[in-house]
Amino acid sequence: MSDTKTTSKPWEHAKSSGSETDPLAARFVSSIDYDWRLYKQDIRGSIAHATMLEQVGLITAGDLEAIEAGLRAIESEIDERGRGWPGFTYELEDIHMCVEAALIERVGEPGRKLHTGRSRNDQVALDLMLWVRDAIEERVTPLLDALTDGLVALAERDGAIVMPSYTHLQRAQPIVVGGELFAWHEAFVRAGQRVAQVGVDMYHSPLGSGAVAGTSLPLNRDMTAEALDFPLNASSSIDATANRDAAVDFVYALSMTAMTLSRWAEQWIIYASTEFGFIKLDDAYTTGSSMMPQKQNPDMLELIRGKCGAVYGSLVALLTTLKGLPIAYNRDLQEDKKHVFRAFDDVCDCLEMAAKIVAGTTFQKERIASTLDRGYLDATSLADYLVTKGVPFRTAHQVVGRLVQVSEERGLGALGKLSLEQFRAESELVEADVFDWLGAENVVKRYQSDGNAGLSGFVSLLEWVRSEGAAEGEALEWDDMVSGLRNLADQMEAEHASKPKGAD
Ligand code: ARG
Repeated sequence: MSDTKTTSKPWEHAKSSGSETDPLAARFVSSIDYDWRLYKQDIRGSIAHATMLEQVGLITAGDLEAIEAGLRAIESEIDERGRGWPGFTYELEDIHMCVEAALIERVGEPGRKLHTGRSRNDQVALDLMLWVRDAIEERVTPLLDALTDGLVALAERDGAIVMPSYTHLQRAQPIVVGGELFAWHEAFVRAGQRVAQVGVDMYHSPLGSGAVAGTSLPLNRDMTAEALDFPLNASSSIDATANRDAAVDFVYALSMTAMTLSRWAEQWIIYASTEFGFIKLDDAYTTGSSMMPQKQNPDMLELIRGKCGAVYGSLVALLTTLKGLPIAYNRDLQEDKKHVFRAFDDVCDCLEMAAKIVAGTTFQKERIASTLDRGYLDATSLADYLVTKGVPFRTAHQVVGRLVQVSEERGLGALGKLSLEQFRAESELVEADVFDWLGAENVVKRYQSDGNAGLSGFVSLLEWVRSEGAAEGEALEWDDMVSGLRNLADQMEAEHASKPKGAD
């Protein structure tokens, strides 16, 4: 077996003593507490690398077999033990060294060949990209899908209830509950597309970039890129090991998701208040007060609103870590994963919680209806009515303003309570059909512009998301976009290949 292993760190032989001489230094420099979460991606990358090493003749078929079997065994052990796997030690610093050391321990000499033509610098850049891609596919996207499905289900139950809309948090125009639920649906669908796009945008495999300058060994980078599903190789070994763009894009996309969650949570906190009483939350998602016996606080919603702060914090922390770094790898980059994981964990928790809250919420039809007369929600509809009679909109606006005043002066409180004579005193064009344009219930039936928040807009959105065809159409559009991007990548690759040799 090996005759070169002199310290616990196989790469520390150049110095007479390594950081293991000071336990604080060993712990300080270590990232295993958090980067152990990369183990699956690390092992996948290593198997692709070893497979390529065998193909180009740098290791034997027997070496590859031993390496692959060893790595798979290590993976199942970590699957079982998680952070408690005994191979995770501070002395070995990080996931890459812990796995490699365990491999050498297990299979001996072939394990010592795995790191041929590779550095932890290209290895960690790769692992993080693979992890982000998996996180998107396996967690964030399904959770966002579950939330948007939940909003649709709630819209199917309560969507036709008439409610006021608010701008400036002041009563604006009547809408239906479904109209507002589809606003959130739209925002979360967009958040999902933004997140998914981060995965699509990862074109360039960093593997084969080595520590900074590449390698003089005959690696076949195309082979590893293809095995790991990258359309291209990174064209600068320095940039490939220096950049964390994918991580920043991911945390930005998570921040936008957290921001949307936070706005939604705030809206529902307001709706759940005694003053509004528009929604009733499931008791499972409220908590009592330790002092006030009557309280039912929307703590889960408040925490969704609040956790957004830490997600933004992760984005700013990551960007700030990157700021001012000299080009190529610097150890500062090790901190990146903390921020990525933290943002991911918080957003996933919030998405999971949000879907449950949505499933347990009911809109309070009677309570909402009892308030619809307030705030002249139908004033804009009345102005539209006058427009249909030939009144210029600006004039109609003034006429309605006066009618609101009349209603207030007479203490009526609603335009629908004015008499036809009172209307005609302000505009002779008003006829008895004006009453069909007044009252929230009537108004929500009249909207006809595409995407309106009234009944027709809500119903057509519901039909659209329900219909198989729409779902397919949407998937198709998305697939088209992805394959378009892939084509673009192929084109770039062709151009790249025609560049003079050594250009990458
Ligand atoms: N744990 C390190 C990180 O996450 C791996 C790269 C270390 N490279 C090095 N040359 N020290 O960034």
